Amino acid sequence: MNTAVDGFATALVQWQRASGRHELPWQNTTDAYRIWLSEIMLQQTQVAAVIPYYGRFLERFPDVFALARASDDEVMQCWSGLGYYSRARNLHACARRVVSEFAGVFPTDPLVIASLPGIGRSTAAAIAVFSAGVRAAILDGNVKRVLSRMFAIEGFPGERAIEQQLWALAEQLLPAGRDDMVDYTQGLMDLGATLCKPKNPSCLLCPMRNACKALALGKVDRLPTPKVRTAVPERSVAMLVLRFGDQVLLEKRPPQGIWGGLWSLPELPLAGDEQLMHQKAGLFAARFGVVAGMQHGAVFVHGFTHFRLTAQPVVVALERLVPRLAEDAAGLAWTDLAGVQDAGLPAPVKKYLIGLVQAKG
Ligand code: ADE
Repeated sequence: MNTAVDGFATALVQWQRASGRHELPWQNTTDAYRIWLSEIMLQQTQVAAVIPYYGRFLERFPDVFALARASDDEVMQCWSGLGYYSRARNLHACARRVVSEFAGVFPTDPLVIASLPGIGRSTAAAIAVFSAGVRAAILDGNVKRVLSRMFAIEGFPGERAIEQQLWALAEQLLPAGRDDMVDYTQGLMDLGATLCKPKNPSCLLCPMRNACKALALGKVDRLPTPKVRTAVPERSVAMLVLRFGDQVLLEKRPPQGIWGGLWSLPELPLAGDEQLMHQKAGLFAARFGVVAGMQHGAVFVHGFTHFRLTAQPVVVALERLVPRLAEDAAGLAWTDLAGVQDAGLPAPVKKYLIGLVQAKG
């Protein structure tokens, strides 16, 4: 008999009903579209950051048909600033699949849900639980932390063998029937987010404090085992800020890779010295107009999951535009600097451009 397993679901459900979260905007509904959208937005993003985006997104795209009909640019614009943009591209592709293959009705079988773009096993289970009360286990980052501590599981949870062990546990712990599945699943999320936090967990308030193995062993702050850190690679680029009056030239990024599908500043590989960089920027700029002046802007740095990007803005003022060549028009657009606030741009690029406007004003 394992005391940590026995009674886990019952205690968690009780705690969720008494002390969990009940008023998040995606709760108290079984609308799979709303639930799916929230689960995708909440991947790698905190609740507080998601809430305003969630409301705006639903206003603009109230159902899966509206989202499926939208253009890429409209979707990216609505996602701009939330990060991890492959989520938005997958979301859009998924909406189109749900409309074309399922007549707009989300499937409820977690295996079928997980075959849709951007939906992994845990997200599929969460959607099935919250929209249809299906009995399926979730295992997101928060749940991995809760279970690693509760059962004192050593080893980085991102490792395959550890992850499999955690999945087996997550399945074993499920309530016997379907009736409690929503509160149980929400309870796991709530426990991870509000008590069993990565730092300074509130063990004294935890409903599992008498059964938690990490707490008994004094290992709460060492579990889950962290990933062995490797140095984060650096990447540097020059970002061209081609200005013509109050307009700036934007380029649509290719669909794959960082910021895929977003509009951003054109980039060039960063040359070692400033003179060479100005030469290269000048050559690029000459396709668009007569260069009146050039200067380096303030460097900005952005951290991605796998590398750190250092951007060196090179600000080029053009005084006359040359007639636009046909091949230049594709994927390039002159945009009013005043309008960048509402454009689908990566957050650090937007921030930089807004800084330019404010510096001028
Ligand atoms: N994180 C992932 N899904 C969530 C949900 N439904 N509620 C709160 N936080 C979450």
